[in-house]
Amino acid sequence: MNRVERLIEIARKKKRVVIGLMSGTSVDAIDAVLVRIEGNARDGARVEKLRFGSFGFPQEIQTRIKLLFERERDRKLTDPVTGEHPAPWTIEEICHLDFVLGELFAQAANRLIADAGMKADDVDLIAAAGQTIWHRPRPTTEPSTADLPWLDDPITTRSTLAIGQAAVIAERTGIITMGDLRVRDVAAGGHGAPLVAYFDWGQLRHPKLARAMQNIGGIANVTFIPPNATLDAVIAFDTGPGNMVIDSLMYLVTKGAETFDRDGERASRGTVRDDVLAWCMSDPYFQLKPPKTTGRERFGRQFAARMAERFTDVAPDDLIATATAFTAESIAHAYREFIGSHVDEMIVAGGGAKNPALLQKLRERLPDTEIKVYEFLQEKEAMAMALIASDSISGLDTNVASVTGGNSTILGKICL
Ligand SMILES: Nc1ncnc2c1ncn2[C@@H]1O[C@H](COP(=O)(O)OP(=O)(O)O)[C@@H](O)[C@H]1O
Ligand SMILES: [Mg+2]
Repeated sequence: MNRVERLIEIARKKKRVVIGLMSGTSVDAIDAVLVRIEGNARDGARVEKLRFGSFGFPQEIQTRIKLLFERERDRKLTDPVTGEHPAPWTIEEICHLDFVLGELFAQAANRLIADAGMKADDVDLIAAAGQTIWHRPRPTTEPSTADLPWLDDPITTRSTLAIGQAAVIAERTGIITMGDLRVRDVAAGGHGAPLVAYFDWGQLRHPKLARAMQNIGGIANVTFIPPNATLDAVIAFDTGPGNMVIDSLMYLVTKGAETFDRDGERASRGTVRDDVLAWCMSDPYFQLKPPKTTGRERFGRQFAARMAERFTDVAPDDLIATATAFTAESIAHAYREFIGSHVDEMIVAGGGAKNPALLQKLRERLPDTEIKVYEFLQEKEAMAMALIASDSISGLDTNVASVTGGNSTILGKICL
């Protein structure tokens, strides 16, 4: 059977074994999940987890990827550990890391298959969203195209860039790979995020309860699903920072020794400074109406550095407590301002769900909402990518147009 015949065979299957690969804005690890999927999101797909693995990045690679997010004008930022100014990134570095990440994603998939006691032939499809390194959610017009005689309208577009070559993943695993999941939605006029809303709706809609699926990764995003919702009734957007500001401040105050506040220990010891919290909440992002997306460009190292520089009198534990309250407050603010109806249950996933201080601060701010931790808290995003790829192979539209702001479309690029 040649590769195209194999693709057609997979497209016709009712049940598929799929690997979802995910690395979020924290750049901490590749989350890889092996699932068996029966049906599709519309008919309430059965997604059975067979195996999960989290494959940590070497610190060196993590640092280099994070550097790709830094804005050129903020390059004066000094690394608190080495004291060095980051070298300007080059297209050569991006090009190289695209393939290095492709290799790492591929080896994570191969290791996961071996750990599950399976073979590559047992797997139908790999889904890889890629590592987003730049995201430009604001539509930008190219002035030079305004007077071009062969164009009806000047070019106006959003853009997003993810690395982790799907071609390398397909080549190294021998498995048909669907990569670059976000770009088609951007081409369709959307933000390219949050993609996970499709999975949340497919797996977690409830006949009677209004549910908010709150993911707290580097960035935090919510999917609000009214009782018995149809896909176009879903609301989803980035609420703001997840762990990103906490992580960056931990790196700063420990001079690089620690990259996150394990179990919220420092936040629990510290006291929230209301003036600092108010300064954080004054960021214009919180006044924008959905659809809206954000990233490391806004709430990354520069944000944390500005916060620490402005409030030099704040003790390190108080700074971490305030950053933790900032995440909780920005989530609660988003629910109050932009969801507009009562939320019965908040189901939390992502690394932030492992931070008890953060959960506590959420509970204080949303006393009428029951806050639970999702059983697949670390797997969820990778599972979502797997479901999206599986449904795309079935020929279904897989973005949630009402939340990304684009047209309904089918996501993914296929490497045979
Ligand atoms: N035990 C823990 N205590 C506190 N925070 C944690 C814990 N485990 C993970 N985290 C946080 O979760 C982050 C990773 O979350 P993750 O969901 O993988 O985000 P992303 O999707 O951005 O990669 C870490 O950077 C850290 O801040
Ligand atoms: Mg992660």
